[in-house]
Amino acid sequence: MAAGKSADAIALLKEDHRKVEKLFKEFQSAKGEGRKEKLAREICLELSVHAAIEEEIFYPACKGKVDEELLKESLVEHDAAKLLVAEIDAAKGAGDEYFDSKVKVLQEEIEHHVEEEERSKSGLFAQARAADLDLGELGERLAERKQELTADYKAAGIPKPELTTMDQAKV
Ligand SMILES: [Fe+2]
Repeated sequence: MAAGKSADAIALLKEDHRKVEKLFKEFQSAKGEGRKEKLAREICLELSVHAAIEEEIFYPACKGKVDEELLKESLVEHDAAKLLVAEIDAAKGAGDEYFDSKVKVLQEEIEHHVEEEERSKSGLFAQARAADLDLGELGERLAERKQELTADYKAAGIPKPELTTMDQAKV
């Protein structure tokens, strides 16, 4: 990419997906608690920022221009992932016999989410590309917010999950 030119929204979000896939892969082959905790923490941070910028900026921009059901599914998937992220972030391996399993299940959830967003033609990104959206401008906003939230979360920790779709069970 040329200097000074930022990625369009979809390129930026796909880049996030690739980064987190790589971290999950590293986690699966990592040895030692310390290394695993560090990778899990990075995964949690990346996914929290990614979900936040999609929910704050990308999904609202897509609303009315892509399949509504797909958008709603993505939000529910985010909420499910946020619960696991919060759990993993809180446990950080400290004696949690389910730690590796939680990371594995999170990985599977994210793989599914990525496939739904990136699927050719019918995926959310393909629909967004076909719609009349200013992806360049959206990309700039996403990048700016991503930078801001990454700094915040690194300094203060990942905030308590804010679920946008789950309020029925009151657990
Ligand atoms: Fe995503």
